Order: sequence, then structure tokens, then C-alpha cells
Amino acid sequence: MRVWICIGSSCHVRGSKEVIETLTGLVKENHVKAEIELAGSFCMGACSKGVSVRIGERIYHVRPEDAKDFFYEVILKEAERCG
Ligand code: FES
Repeated sequence: MRVWICIGSSCHVRGSKEVIETLTGLVKENHVKAEIELAGSFCMGACSKGVSVRIGERIYHVRPEDAKDFFYEVILKEAERCG
């Protein structure tokens, strides 16, 4: 499963670098590198309160401080669902 993280200027200011670092660390820690691929994306046209993260057709807005919860509550569950 691929997780797109926006690195456009608006999301950059909102902490995309921190979100990427947190998620990269969690992917390693949980040994799910084969299942979850993190990828950078240009502006998704969805600039909002947090960093835009897209999984499939769905775009989430993730603040750096929420990245860990987002990983466990959304990314891991989606990855399990996708098999
Ligand atoms: S800069 Fe990230 S959605 Fe626009």
C-alpha cells in the first residue's frame, strides 16, 4: 500500500518533514516496510490545517504531533485491510 505525503509549500510549513520522519521511523519499528510504502507528493490541492496525506482516494490532514496516532489508527489498519 502506498501512502502519499504532501511536500508542497503549504504542507511543508505545516510540518511535512516531521510527519515523514515520524512515519518512516514507525514503518521501520513495526517491520512493515514490505507492506507500506511512503512517497512524497506535490500539492494535492487540499491544503488545510495539517499535512495532506493520501491513501487511495482519501486525503487526510495530519499534524506532526498526531502522526504517530495516525500511523496506528489509520495507516496500519488500512494496510491490514488491503492484505
Ligand atoms: S501544499 Fe499540500 S495539499 Fe497543498
